[in-house]
Amino acid sequence: MKTVAIVAEKGGVGKTSLSIHLGVAAAIKGKETVLVDLDPQASASKWGDSREAESPVVISCQASRLEKVLETARDGGAQLVVIDTAPHSESSALAAIRAADLILIPCQPSILDLRAIANTIDLVKLAKKTATVVLNCVPTRGSLGDEAADAIKEYNIPIAPVRICERTAFVRSLAGGLAAQEYEPKGKAADEIWEFYKWLCKQVKL
Ligand SMILES: Nc1ncnc2c1ncn2[C@@H]1O[C@H](COP(=O)(O)OP(=O)(O)OP(=O)(O)O)[C@@H](O)[C@H]1O
Ligand SMILES: [Mg+2]
Repeated sequence: MKTVAIVAEKGGVGKTSLSIHLGVAAAIKGKETVLVDLDPQASASKWGDSREAESPVVISCQASRLEKVLETARDGGAQLVVIDTAPHSESSALAAIRAADLILIPCQPSILDLRAIANTIDLVKLAKKTATVVLNCVPTRGSLGDEAADAIKEYNIPIAPVRICERTAFVRSLAGGLAAQEYEPKGKAADEIWEFYKWLCKQVKL
């Protein structure tokens, strides 16, 4: 079983969206997938409630229960667990960071977001782990994405080779309990997620 944690202390950077889209990608590929929602806002869980398909399985839990939930997932044959975490919660982020084989930090290409990832990177270091930054909500035109990638180099932390752009399919799909790959399978949002998923599989040897 491989575990991927999506963490960022800052709110609204795309943790839940990325968790859902990666969870659905794995489920479509036939992997036994569990999406663990550590956020009391329960956004991923509410998306799960509105979803007809039974996979990925969505479980809402508190950070203090994470180890036990992961044990149950492993015993139940889960192949991939994606953990969505809460913003402004060190306990939620740290629990996920400690449990993860791969840690992803979504970051939007704005100066406020670029500054804010410093706290999350510190938490990752505290746990003696490494993480990869994922540029999310990158405008499809202009150079903001490249500028952000340059700025992130100063943190000496890897950046995922696949960027996720700002696309309405990422927003609209969620309303119907879907992900972009299901809502608009031939769209650019779906393409980006599939490319990202391929990269993720290589990283965790899934
Ligand atoms: N790539 C994208 N393109 C367009 N909109 C996006 C994208 N990623 C996220 N969003 C939108 O941005 C908003 C915040 O995303 P999301 O809820 O996933 O962030 P979050 O980090 O989980 O937030 P929180 O910290 O509150 O849990 C949502 O409205 C979501 O639909
Ligand atoms: Mg969220």
